Amino acid sequence: MTSKREIKKVLVTGAVGQIGSELTLALRRRFGADNVVATGRKTAPSDELKNSGPFYFIDVSKRETLEEVVRKHDIDTIVHMAAILSAVGEQKPMLAWDVNVNGLLTVLECAREHEMAQVLVPSSIAVFGPETPRDNTPNDTILKPKTMYGVSKVAGELLGDYYFYKYGLDVRGLRYPGIISHETAPGGGTTDFAVAIYYEAVRQNRYTCFVREDTRLPMMYMPDCIKATIDLMMCDVSKLKHHSDFNVGSMSFSAGELAASIARYMPGFECSYEPDFRQQIADSWPMSVDDTAAREEWGWSPDYDLDRMTQDMLENLKRKHAAGRI
Ligand code: SER
Repeated sequence: MTSKREIKKVLVTGAVGQIGSELTLALRRRFGADNVVATGRKTAPSDELKNSGPFYFIDVSKRETLEEVVRKHDIDTIVHMAAILSAVGEQKPMLAWDVNVNGLLTVLECAREHEMAQVLVPSSIAVFGPETPRDNTPNDTILKPKTMYGVSKVAGELLGDYYFYKYGLDVRGLRYPGIISHETAPGGGTTDFAVAIYYEAVRQNRYTCFVREDTRLPMMYMPDCIKATIDLMMCDVSKLKHHSDFNVGSMSFSAGELAASIARYMPGFECSYEPDFRQQIADSWPMSVDDTAAREEWGWSPDYDLDRMTQDMLENLKRKHAAGRI
C-alpha cells in the first residue's frame, strides 16, 4: 500500500531552527547538497546553510509557497521541522495550532497529491500529560496533554497515521525529548534551560534556571537526535508497526544533576533556581521514556550520556566564546 519510492529529493521546513539547521547539513552530506532543499519562514539562514545548497523562504500555511518549491525541485520527501514549541505555544495557542496542525495538513496534502516517497514529522514528549505514567513512559499510553503544543502534536501523530492508513503515504515520526545543542539556539521551548545553562556556564560560570532543581526530564544530545531522525527515515517501512509516534530515549536527568555535571568540568559553576510558568509544563511531562518500540522496529540506540555530552558541549562553546561568537 505504501509507495516505497526511494528518497531522492528532500525538502526541509524549519531548516533555520535548532534541529533543522543541523539536520539539513547532515541530510546534504547523505543525499547530496543539491538534493536537499532548505526552507525557512523568516529567520535568515546561516552562511553555511545558505551556501551549501538551495534555500527558499516559504510559509507552510500558504500551500502555493510550498508547492512552487516542490515542483521546481521535483521533491519526493518532506522533513517537516517547522513548529511552534511549548512555551510560545502557551502564549500564542492559536498560532501554535495553526502552524503545527494546519501547516502539517498542508504538507501532508501536498505530499499525497505528489505521491511522495515519505514525510517525516517530529512529535514530542509533550504529547503526554499528568495522567500518563511519568517514569519509563510507555510508547502506547494515555495522551492527554495540557499544553496547546502537546494537543497539536497529538493531532499531528493522528494525522500522520491517518494519511498512512487511508492514503498509503509513508509518514514517520518520533517523539523528541529536550534536544541539547551548541550550533543553533532553541526557541520557545520548556526544555530550553538545558541548553541555556551551558551557554551561561561558559559566559559567566553561573545560571538562573527557570525550573526547579528536582525537575527531571528526558533529554538528548543533537548528534543522537540527527542519528535517530535519519535512521527512522532510512529504515524499511515493512519493519514498522508504529509510524508517527515513536518514543526515543537517551538520557534523563534533573536540572540539579545537569548543573552538577557542568560543575565537574567548570569548577565554581553556580546554578540558582527561579521557576516560572514553564515549571507547570515540565511537571506534566515524563521523567523518562520507554523506547522499546524504536529499538525493536528500527534499531534505535543512543551514543551519548550526560557527562559525555557536557564535555562536548563545553568544548564547543568555549571555542565559540574565545572566537567572540557567543
Ligand atoms: N523541546 C520541546 C519544548 O520544550 C519539547 O518537545 O517545547
